[in-house]
Amino acid sequence: MLKLNINGTDRNVDAAPDTPLLWVLRDHLDLTGTKYGCGVAACGTCTVIVDGAAVRSCAVPAAAVAGKKVRTVEGLAATSLTRLQQAWIRHQVPQCGYCQSGMLMAATALLEKTPQPSDDDIDRAMTNICRCGTYQRVRRAIKDAAGMTTPVAASGAAPAPAGLTLSTTLSTPAGAK
Ligand code: FES
Ligand code: FES
Repeated sequence: MLKLNINGTDRNVDAAPDTPLLWVLRDHLDLTGTKYGCGVAACGTCTVIVDGAAVRSCAVPAAAVAGKKVRTVEGLAATSLTRLQQAWIRHQVPQCGYCQSGMLMAATALLEKTPQPSDDDIDRAMTNICRCGTYQRVRRAIKDAAGMTTPVAASGAAPAPAGLTLSTTLSTPAGAK
C-alpha cells in the first residue's frame, strides 16, 4: 500500500511501488486530467508538480513520491481559477487541448520559482511538445500571468468567446478518458 499526498489530501493506493505515477493518478485515483503521450519522459503531456518541481509522471515510480506533495491540474483551482488559468483563457491557448494540462503544470512551476521569467527562462522550462503548435500563445499567457505584457484586449487579440470556460477549452474529445 502506497501513501501519497495528492493535491493536499493523503491517499492510500493499492499499487505496486514501481507503477508509474501517471497510472496511479489516472487508473487508481481517477485524476484523468494528467494525460499520457509518449510514456518515455519526452513530451511533457503527463507533467505534474512534485514538491514545487515540474515532473514527468510517466517516468516516476509512484513510490518515489511517497512523503512528497504532488499537485495535478485538478488541484490548480481549489476555489477559483489561478492567474495563469485566466491568462490561458484570455489568450485562447488550447487547440485540441491534449497537451494543455502538462503545459499548465510546467508553467505553474516556472512562475512559482521565477515570477518574472525571461524568454530564456520560458524556453528552458517549457520543453513540452504541442502537436497543435500553441507555443507562442503559451508564451504570451505566461507573460500575461506574470504581469509582463499589456492586457490582451489592448494588444488587438480577439477576446475569448462569451461563455468560454477553462473546462470547455481543456475538454477531452468525446470517448477519450
Ligand atoms: S507521457 Fe510523460 S513525457 Fe510524454
Ligand atoms: S493543443 Fe493540441 S497538442 Fe497541444
